Amino acid sequence: MNILVTGGAGFIGSHTLIELYKAGHTAVVVDNLSNSNPVALQRVAEIIGVPEIPFYKVDIRDREGLEKVLAEHRCDACIHFAGLKAVGESVEKPWEYYENNIGGTLTLVDVMRRHGCKNIIFSSSATVYGDPAEIPITENCPKGQCTNPYGWTKSMLEQVLMDIQKADPEWNVVLLRYFNPVGAHASGRIGENPNGIPNNLMPYITQVAVGKRQELGVFGNDYPTPDGTGVRDYIHVVDLATAHVAALKVFSEQCSVLSEAGANQLNTKHLALNTTHIYNIGTGHGYSVLDMVKAFVRVNGVDVPYSIKPRRAGDIATCYCNPAKAKAELGWEAKYGIDDMVRDSWNWQRQNPEGYSE
Ligand code: NAD
Ligand code: WQD
Repeated sequence: MNILVTGGAGFIGSHTLIELYKAGHTAVVVDNLSNSNPVALQRVAEIIGVPEIPFYKVDIRDREGLEKVLAEHRCDACIHFAGLKAVGESVEKPWEYYENNIGGTLTLVDVMRRHGCKNIIFSSSATVYGDPAEIPITENCPKGQCTNPYGWTKSMLEQVLMDIQKADPEWNVVLLRYFNPVGAHASGRIGENPNGIPNNLMPYITQVAVGKRQELGVFGNDYPTPDGTGVRDYIHVVDLATAHVAALKVFSEQCSVLSEAGANQLNTKHLALNTTHIYNIGTGHGYSVLDMVKAFVRVNGVDVPYSIKPRRAGDIATCYCNPAKAKAELGWEAKYGIDDMVRDSWNWQRQNPEGYSE
């Protein structure tokens, strides 16, 4: 398939491009580079062994820009990563987050349908579960109250895409609810490159390890967890990338079911028709902040000084998923463990202490 990849220069997008090409797909990238660097795409092309990845510096809110891309490239599906993702910033700038993430997605979806491309995989997040009603979290767990505008953009966009799919069953919509992506490509050539002070745990750890920050603040050690620190379902970004390749199967299956059985019949051998497909994408294992720090120190042989700080507003104690649905329906499961995650995160940071800006 030829895939439109919005936000393809970013952390998860760049890793997904590699897995798409490895699986025999091709891609066209649209990114406004608001949180990424085009060097990432050059490195992706090097890793794949192609001269370049087709790239357009276009904002997904720019209708004419998107029209031009889709007029020049026939795309079978879109993997939609583009969006702003900093939780704290979203509290400061809610309008900017709603306008970029929701406005951008509405424009994207409209241009896609005008060009007959009605297959979309959307980057959602575990954040839509709020403080989850059950652990491990299955896809049947009710969505919850988000604690920030970023989370609400994900929750609202899930609803928008489900409604669009319901109204026009030609749409195939896959919502992937990512848990906590970490790690980097084994080459160390691409990885997570946050601007300024990292919000997320793993880039903070790697920046302490490389000497850019003095110590890690551990946000709370009085949670009802085995060691008192927050527990999360960290997933290697390469596993997350292969989940997108696996999810493309939904589109090919829907097409074959439609042609075999007629549009209105449900063929139980296959995935359900006429519904939005929702999957948790995690490992199913919960690790605490201190588990991550200890694994990082043990595997990489570097020191990570830390001190205990107060809880961070909006944090929950425990969040990990049951990923069985993705395994059963997509044949996907995570392959990498905590040691791979901390090794590859460090390999990237060590080789690129200033990210892509060297
Ligand atoms: P990222 O910031 O590295 O990548 C997002 C990309 O989208 C960037 O390259 C940015 O320049 C681009 N972008 C933003 N707004 C745009 C616009 N209006 N038009 C065109 N391009 C635009 O983030 P990531 O970690 O790779 O995340 C990818 C997606 O996954 C995002 O939608 C994010 O919300 C979602 N997600 C991320 C995490 C995480 O922890 N990293 C977890 C759950 C969900
Ligand atoms: C993980 C754990 C912190 C930093 C966020 C978003 C979520 C999703 C993934 C996009 C928590 C602790 C962290 C630090 C710490 N993003 N921590 N010191 O909060 O689970 O999820 O990223 O969709 O929407 O909310 O990830 O990496 O920020 O935190 O102790 O300097 O590490 O308290 O327990 P989180 P995180």
